[in-house]
Amino acid sequence: MFCDTHCHLFQEYYEDIDVVINLAKEHGVNRMIVAGCDGKSNEEVMSLLDRTEIYGALGIHPEEVENYQEKDLAFIEKNIAHEKIVVIGEIGLDYHYGKENKEAQIKLFETQLAMAEKYHMPVVIHSREATLDTITSLKKYKVKGVIHSFSGSLETAKIYMEMGFLLGVNGVITFKNCNLKDVIKEIDLHNIVLETDSPYLTPVPFRGKRNDPSKVSNIADFLCELKNVSRESLAKITNENIKRIFDI
Ligand code: NI
Repeated sequence: MFCDTHCHLFQEYYEDIDVVINLAKEHGVNRMIVAGCDGKSNEEVMSLLDRTEIYGALGIHPEEVENYQEKDLAFIEKNIAHEKIVVIGEIGLDYHYGKENKEAQIKLFETQLAMAEKYHMPVVIHSREATLDTITSLKKYKVKGVIHSFSGSLETAKIYMEMGFLLGVNGVITFKNCNLKDVIKEIDLHNIVLETDSPYLTPVPFRGKRNDPSKVSNIADFLCELKNVSRESLAKITNENIKRIFDI
């Protein structure tokens, strides 16, 4: 059985979350970590935790840097001790739309890293076009976790792995003209976890459709072929990896 370590199962994307969960289970995906991004979605994460299959991540995404309020950070801290909140995220840095608010992003990111360190929680990191600053911030805190949707070079992968981070692999690896598969081919499976980032990043051959956690199964099949391992051993190794980082 597989775990989708990063998805956004929110009502604005899915009419019926239980249908999505059941479809995932039919495809051998029996655990999902739902990641919040802002005040509203963090509240929604909390409301999903009564489902056996669902674990939660609470965090303020870097794209929310202009919108978040202090009370949103207080909400995270208030709920951090819930037994099914297993990670702080998704948090990080994103310079894709420019660096004008770079200082504010770093401040928001480091505030949440400090919170993770204080409560001994792992982190799930979103880093887009901001690798150097991400590494600089991460090195200031005693945290471990997952680099969500990793898509960097082998050199960058090695830096993150040396820092004790796992790499989150999703549908991007199935995209044509994408060199991520060449990088992942060189990386030991003990550094990898599977995710979908649903509803985004739908893998081949479903591109253009909405993604959902059942498609971890397709990502797993792709990885099995790339790394020449069975589904059983991929499930075993990735579940061991998850256990090293997350309390689930
Ligand atoms: Ni995400």
